[in-house]
Amino acid sequence: MCEIMISGGKKLSGQVNISGAKNAVLPILAASLLTNDEVIIKNVPDLEDVRTMIEILHSLSIDCEFEGSVIRIQAHEKAGNSVPYHLIRKMRASFNILGPLSVINSEARVPLPGGCSIGPRPVDLHMMGLKKLGFDNWVEHGVVFSKRREDFDDINDEIIIDLPFPSVGATEQIISTAARLEGKRTVLNNAAKEPEIGQLIDFLNGMGARIRGKGNATIEITGVKELHGIEFSVIPDRMEAGTYLIAGLITNSSIEIDGLIEEHNQSLIDKLKAMNAPFKVKNHVAYTESSNRKMKGTFIRADVYPEFPTDMQPQLTSLLSIAKGYSVIQDTVFPERNSHAEELRRHGADIMVKNQTIVIKGVERLEGAPVYATDLRCSAALVLSGLAAKGETLVQRVDHIFRGYDRIGDKLKRLGADIEIKN
Ligand code: EPZ
Repeated sequence: MCEIMISGGKKLSGQVNISGAKNAVLPILAASLLTNDEVIIKNVPDLEDVRTMIEILHSLSIDCEFEGSVIRIQAHEKAGNSVPYHLIRKMRASFNILGPLSVINSEARVPLPGGCSIGPRPVDLHMMGLKKLGFDNWVEHGVVFSKRREDFDDINDEIIIDLPFPSVGATEQIISTAARLEGKRTVLNNAAKEPEIGQLIDFLNGMGARIRGKGNATIEITGVKELHGIEFSVIPDRMEAGTYLIAGLITNSSIEIDGLIEEHNQSLIDKLKAMNAPFKVKNHVAYTESSNRKMKGTFIRADVYPEFPTDMQPQLTSLLSIAKGYSVIQDTVFPERNSHAEELRRHGADIMVKNQTIVIKGVERLEGAPVYATDLRCSAALVLSGLAAKGETLVQRVDHIFRGYDRIGDKLKRLGADIEIKN
């Protein structure tokens, strides 16, 4: 298990470049199965989740190489149709491969993804969508089977899918699968609107798909017979950008974050402005300023895009621990996403969780302490509080952080952080 030792309470300085978006590249890798031509994906972050997805493509006999920040894929119709559990269990996003595999093979077998500490992670909406698209699916011994219906060609050519919740993964699964259902027109209602969905739509349309409604809650997909290759570049990771913005603020430093796209981070920017945080954003670059100005507490309700993102909730909780006054945080997407709160108490935060609501009374400063990470964004939150806390912090079981933060050790050291990563 990895540990990060931090000697905190020190200012940072300099500039950090944001890498490509994890939650954009993962569904794009799954959708790359839908063509036999070469797919080139640029600005790919070097993350464990990306490497796991590449292992999954290899397990399906697909040529895939990752060099620098570029992935080249040459999918083949001869791609296999079942994925080993030990790979799927590593990360949930791999489940998005089920639909594309079902399209190119008429049937597929993908193990149910594991849950994680932020709450239950069901896939019922994925399976409902695939069924509506003409793929019967069921679970046997923890494996999801998906099979094109015999009467597939007879089912009506207009398919309406209403999502009861704008699930990001289910939206991606349905869009990717419907894209290659020739002769079928699918209307997806209450679709997720995250920027990563827009990336997937741009990627598929760039391959010849016919998908309309990017950024809207209703997406229309007219299926085509085949898709051609593409060379595609991934947007910067809005969660990584937000995390480094908070790193500058929580250490009261003047740093520059290069690759923070305003429109993708508007809800975070608005909240930080409401907290009187000393920063500005111009032309996709954020600048934090060291200041005597005290930030003030606020109310956070994490919700689906464009509301405040659940994946930034733990990191902002760390910052609110040293903001003046009271803060209240609720997460409507993952109501149980509060394991970071207990650990922040060890850093001296005045914080409690009641009825899935986090309540904070800001303190002057945090104190170094050994803390325990349970998932990706909790790890990030504790690294941030460790950077702010005076003294030594040992963040234990921090392996998750390498799933979602490209070269975080190098980037923080280049910003002047006094940290050491121990494997
Ligand atoms: C994506 O997960 C992200 N992961 C998550 O980021 C992010 O937290 C989440 O969207 C919400 O924005 C990737 O994109 C790889 P959902 P996903 O389907 O697709 C319920 C990170 O830290 N639900 O929108 O799994 C579910 O239980 C990760 O980078 C069903 O009930 O999220 C949850 O309450 C963590 N049935 C809610 O929807 C389903 O079939 C949100 O899930 C699917 C989801």
